[in-house]
Amino acid sequence: MFFNREGEKWYKLRRVLNKRMLHPKDSVQYGDVVNAVVTDFIKRIYYLREMSPTGDLVPNLTNELYRFSLEARKMIDMKMKAIQRRVDANQEVAGEYLTYLLSNVKMSSKDVYGSISELLLAGVDSTSNTMMWALYLLSRDPEAQEALYQDVTRVLKGDTVPTAQEVNNMPYLKAVIKETLRMYPVVPMNSRLISENDVVIGGHFFPKKTTFSMSHYAISRDEKVFPEAWKFKPDRWLRDGRTRPNPFGSIPFGFGVRGCVGRRIAELEMHLALARLIKLFEIRPDPTVGEVQSVYRSVLAPDRQVNLHFVERPKTHEA
Ligand code: HEM
Repeated sequence: MFFNREGEKWYKLRRVLNKRMLHPKDSVQYGDVVNAVVTDFIKRIYYLREMSPTGDLVPNLTNELYRFSLEARKMIDMKMKAIQRRVDANQEVAGEYLTYLLSNVKMSSKDVYGSISELLLAGVDSTSNTMMWALYLLSRDPEAQEALYQDVTRVLKGDTVPTAQEVNNMPYLKAVIKETLRMYPVVPMNSRLISENDVVIGGHFFPKKTTFSMSHYAISRDEKVFPEAWKFKPDRWLRDGRTRPNPFGSIPFGFGVRGCVGRRIAELEMHLALARLIKLFEIRPDPTVGEVQSVYRSVLAPDRQVNLHFVERPKTHEA
């Protein structure tokens, strides 16, 4: 997941892209598109359950989530193209995400199209694996799962589909994703090459052309940064007056101008999907799978096929 451009040209492009892509307000525009894909994914879950011997098992979840994430990306791509057509035809696209980018005179349309196609190729694996880890962790922690269910149903009544704004009122849902990415930062390492000048950092001298590598995985599992680092504890992220962790202890999307461009899209996708899944199903482990280890295969992936039971919750009768 890298842009091919380097140096000054890259920097200019990213400054423009970041302005639009990383603003939460803009990703909200994609809620409907993503929700349509979540609806299809839920149908697929029902189908797979029915086909299974127990009537509730979903085998090879990573595979299913990959297809879901790819589909979401394709739909977002279509929506972006539709916006582009409107921009080109001088039609109004008020409030639409990327409008600014697509109509920005400072960038040639070649640069813009190039960035978008690169952008849409990235992140399918990262989002689907994060979803897989979240569901796996929840399946092993009924208490956290119940807290999540309460958080979602407090906001989402009856059969309604959450909007991107409603998800903002689900702090536990967001905490679950944050905690999942702390334990399984799907992009576990980041590197930077200091190409231009020698630098002194914290009293240490680094000559130019030094490569710095940072292991997200090591830092976010360090007991000094996160007490009980090996424990799945979404609560640690809640803003309810408790002492919160150092925000730089876990930066799974990177930080600064080179940080992940797809962050808001990824979060939207994961929040909308997880809210609806947890409302419909209680997730339970498949005992034949055992304890899953992570392996580094360009992203942090499970070392085996993960199956989970999706036990349907009784229907509620609220309005
Ligand atoms: C859970 C999901 C994701 C995680 C954890 C993640 C994480 C990251 C990280 C750590 C980087 C490197 C940042 C740096 O070097 O400082 C990155 C770069 C990038 N990500 Fe993501 N990502 C995710 C999803 C996505 C999605 C959905 C997209 C596209 C829609 C995307 C597009 C990109 C692109 C284009 C870059 C390269 C940026 C550059 O080098 O300039 N990512 N991502």
